[in-house]
Amino acid sequence: MSPSDLPSVRLRPEIVALPAYRQGKPADAAAFKLSSNENPFDPLPSVIEAVNAATAFNRYPDASALALRERLAARFGVSSDEVHVGSGSVALLAQLILAAAGPGDEVLYSWRSFEAYPGLVTVSGATSVQVPNRANHGHDLPEMAAAINDRTRVVIVCSPNNPTGTIVTAEEFDAFMAVVPKDLLVILDEAYAEFVTAPDAVKGPPLLARYPNLVVLRTFSKAYGLAGLRVGYALGPVPILDAARSTAIPLSVTGPAGAAAIASLDVERELLARVEVIAERRDAAWQALTSQGWNIPNPQGNFLWLPTGEQTTEVADRLFAAGLVVRAFQPDGIRVSIGEGEAVEKLLRIAADIVGDLPAGNPARRLG
Ligand SMILES: Cc1ncc(COP(=O)(O)O)c(C=O)c1O
Repeated sequence: MSPSDLPSVRLRPEIVALPAYRQGKPADAAAFKLSSNENPFDPLPSVIEAVNAATAFNRYPDASALALRERLAARFGVSSDEVHVGSGSVALLAQLILAAAGPGDEVLYSWRSFEAYPGLVTVSGATSVQVPNRANHGHDLPEMAAAINDRTRVVIVCSPNNPTGTIVTAEEFDAFMAVVPKDLLVILDEAYAEFVTAPDAVKGPPLLARYPNLVVLRTFSKAYGLAGLRVGYALGPVPILDAARSTAIPLSVTGPAGAAAIASLDVERELLARVEVIAERRDAAWQALTSQGWNIPNPQGNFLWLPTGEQTTEVADRLFAAGLVVRAFQPDGIRVSIGEGEAVEKLLRIAADIVGDLPAGNPARRLG
């Protein structure tokens, strides 16, 4: 390390130790970017118009995005104070963790899960407790319940889980909530809820009336295709959301972002028809990969999980060389977003060769 790599001022050591955020390798013009679970469809004309019309940016935005909160409140049958809007659901996660957990406290979640969780917990000063996913790549809720103690302040349940695509069933979630202390905040992260087709999957919003310690997170980034504008929302009890509002960086949701979200709700049917196309493309890809000999969990988000284990970097390099920019988590596996139809076709062609080259014991390869 050269002297210029060392901070010249005293910083929090646990923050200095965090890997600084660097975006993945940029996709060249001919490559497909399948690394961030983005929506491959271009924005709808009416949404672009709404953004273009939101030109009063000499003024600050409405601090609480009231118009959007009212739309969401009507949609979910809650009051507008039971909706909190943030600049992406990741901002809401940060706010909720800061509101509930600090030094000496624990935040519990399944692992591997959304890669932002560990960093957000470290920033709050609390400690992460990670419960390993089951062999089927889903959350182990009984083990998570067993890991709760007096220091636990937040539990995050992610369904569908990023990056494994697995769901928590409604039955599993209810059994979990029955044993969770009533004063412990449970965040159900449903960033990919709109892509779920499994009938037994948990659905957060109807459960809010039943569990006063539950907050549900959703986002406009994925199904609604607004990742670049940054809008997400939390549904939950007013006192918890008020605490999150107190930790928020004020005025983060911009006017154009709020306008785009409202315009997206106006054309929700059209957007959800696109979601259906992506879900069908995903299911067809999963079937095809399974027939090729891949052993991958049933995907319920807009992405696939290839549990390539020790061969992760090697396989990701092959996909990258073929023009598919994927997200590799050595030594666990590779997340591949469901992008353009052409990208999926390309994936299937290369994957057929790759699976045959995986060593017999590789977890991504079916036995026999
Ligand atoms: C599980 C999960 N939660 C939350 C987010 C955050 O999304 P955003 O901040 O764009 O709403 C993501 C994004 O990839 C995610 O995968």
